[in-house]
Amino acid sequence: MSKELMQENIAKAQKEIEKKKDIVKKGRMRQHYHFMAQTGWLNDPNGLIYYKGKYHFFFQYNPYYGFWDYMHWGHAVSEDMVHWEYLPLALAPSERYDDHMRGGCFSGSAIEHEGKLFLMFTGTTHNGKGYEQTQCIAYSEDGVHFEKYEGNPVLTAPEGVAKDQFRDPKVWKHEGTYYMVCGGSRDGRAQALLYQSEDMLHWSFFNVMAESRGEWGHMWECTDFYPLGDKYVLMFSPMGSGEHTSVYLVGDFDYETGRFYSHISGEIDWGFDYYAPQSFLAPDGRRIIVGWANEWEWMPLWKDWGPTYREGWCGFFNIPREVRMTEDGSLQFLPVAELNAIRMNPKQEAYFCVTEEEKELTAGDGVCFEMKFKVDLEQTDADRMELILRCGEGKKTVCLFDFKRAELCVDRNESDGWSRGVSRSVMYLKGKKELDVHILSDQSSLEIFTDRYQNNHSNNIFAADVQNQMKIRAYGGKAIIREYEAWGLKECFS
Ligand code: FRU
Repeated sequence: MSKELMQENIAKAQKEIEKKKDIVKKGRMRQHYHFMAQTGWLNDPNGLIYYKGKYHFFFQYNPYYGFWDYMHWGHAVSEDMVHWEYLPLALAPSERYDDHMRGGCFSGSAIEHEGKLFLMFTGTTHNGKGYEQTQCIAYSEDGVHFEKYEGNPVLTAPEGVAKDQFRDPKVWKHEGTYYMVCGGSRDGRAQALLYQSEDMLHWSFFNVMAESRGEWGHMWECTDFYPLGDKYVLMFSPMGSGEHTSVYLVGDFDYETGRFYSHISGEIDWGFDYYAPQSFLAPDGRRIIVGWANEWEWMPLWKDWGPTYREGWCGFFNIPREVRMTEDGSLQFLPVAELNAIRMNPKQEAYFCVTEEEKELTAGDGVCFEMKFKVDLEQTDADRMELILRCGEGKKTVCLFDFKRAELCVDRNESDGWSRGVSRSVMYLKGKKELDVHILSDQSSLEIFTDRYQNNHSNNIFAADVQNQMKIRAYGGKAIIREYEAWGLKECFS
């Protein structure tokens, strides 16, 4: 019976998408090369996997309107992570464990098992006394049409873990055994709960892999765990941990005990709009992460989700990033090389000097572009350097490289008449000869990568096409720029 119910709910949602997709496509705030849904609301990346020759991205999805509600799993495939083909929705709420208007099929992950594509997700329901979250399975023979497992839910919250704070399973395989880590909250502290299975269907609790001692909040959303070199990485989005939105810990892991011992921590992105990243392996061995370009209303720096709901949509993913480890064990997050294929109209300037006098820069059409350069720190004596982006008709977004205060600030108070706030991070430049800067600008977002991709800011701005100028200036001295390169970036959703 229920098999039909999920298909009915998917068909209903597909109808709605068909009805609205052409209108939504015309939205003037739509992105040109960042992944979006066809209609409605999108949040976390789910089930990222390279499966049978294609990248599959699933996503938290409400196809009906531009706000969070009633979670489905959207689905799209790609050969390059840049151009996408939308597939029918993979999951829709249909069962007593996931059928609630303010619940549904919450975040999770994908894995290949016995030739089939398995999804593990969190069913969220409301039993009259409160929300209840359980872990559930669905599978597919063809990678397109999914069926929920009859034995769902396969896991309920362990004793002592809050029933409404137990979610976002991330699955992997190690030496023939399946493992899953998910977030839980026990006594007001966040935990990464580790489970094991031999067959992907029967799961048993293994250990608390890691936990907050208060410093990392009361709940971890979208935990993810993977090996990198001879170390391991645990990532999560902490609730109740101040301004942190996406954190990584690097350390060692013991498969005998199921405990993770970490000695390095860092922020994946200091911007307002980077949350719930999930990782997967590309066929060439790269570890790639994808985040949701937004944040939640309970976060201290949240403004809102932006004005795009008026165009019938909300949400996109940040550009996929390759994770690399430096000599000291901290991590770098580089936009994937696949993006180079959409570059056009290259510009180059080997050297220029920036002074108090404003200098115009050019990059593509000034809206959808990529820009790279290096600040020669040995030759630079300015206190500050201002890079003004998406500027025009009295609006602008300002990236301030403050060498004196050792701070990078991205100010969107004058970006669009809508957005607000200044994202900030420390620039640690001691002993460094140069500061590398790499910027990706799309219709409604700016992603700024600096300091070897270790100091990054993703911010959404809803500037119009007339905001297409760029300027640079220095204060209190000169700044020397080397290897300036810029490109326009091609439309990928035509
Ligand atoms: C993170 C999150 C997850 C949850 C999903 C619901 O952004 O809150 O913890 O599974 O979104 O859409």
